[in-house]
Amino acid sequence: MPKRVHMIAGLLAPLCIATFFISTILTELFGSQAEVAQLKLLIVTPGLWIMVPLMAAAGGSGMFLARSRKGRLVDSKRKRMPFIAANGLFVLVPCAIVLSRWASAGAFDTTFYMVQAIELIAGATNLTLMGLNARDGLRMTGRLRSRSAPATPSH
Ligand code: HEM
Repeated sequence: MPKRVHMIAGLLAPLCIATFFISTILTELFGSQAEVAQLKLLIVTPGLWIMVPLMAAAGGSGMFLARSRKGRLVDSKRKRMPFIAANGLFVLVPCAIVLSRWASAGAFDTTFYMVQAIELIAGATNLTLMGLNARDGLRMTGRLRSRSAPATPSH
């Protein structure tokens, strides 16, 4: 059960951040202010209500699965998790909430775009860290072959 929870949350959490990231860039570039405001509302509800539990489920189940495991891959994953959690809770969540409020009020000023830039940088950082965790996890379960691993003979 924890394995299944971890695999599902571990793949959906980065996918969720990637969706927010790409949709934000696309609407900022090509959408109207009303569309930006609509997307910001959706990122808060239901977006954050999906992303935060997924991150907690991935982290919690990962820590549980890693109790008795040692090694470079699991250590790297363990070290990345506090950065992922802090970045999510203290940067991404507050940014999403204030940006949504400002966009709904039509306040597209310099502060809005500065916070938007911070949110995109934090999003890209978390996407990278989660992506690395997913890659190392898939290597640990043998679903992804390490590039440095010797190739299996074909016959
Ligand atoms: C958001 C962060 C994380 C993501 C995106 C993530 C993603 C993944 C993925 C995709 C797998 C492969 C699952 C499978 O093939 O069945 C995996 C496996 C694994 N992850 Fe994570 N993981 C995260 C956090 C953690 C943390 C914090 C730990 C604790 C050190 C951890 C420990 C493990 C372990 C031990 C496995 C192997 C499980 C098994 O043997 O079935 N993960 N992870």
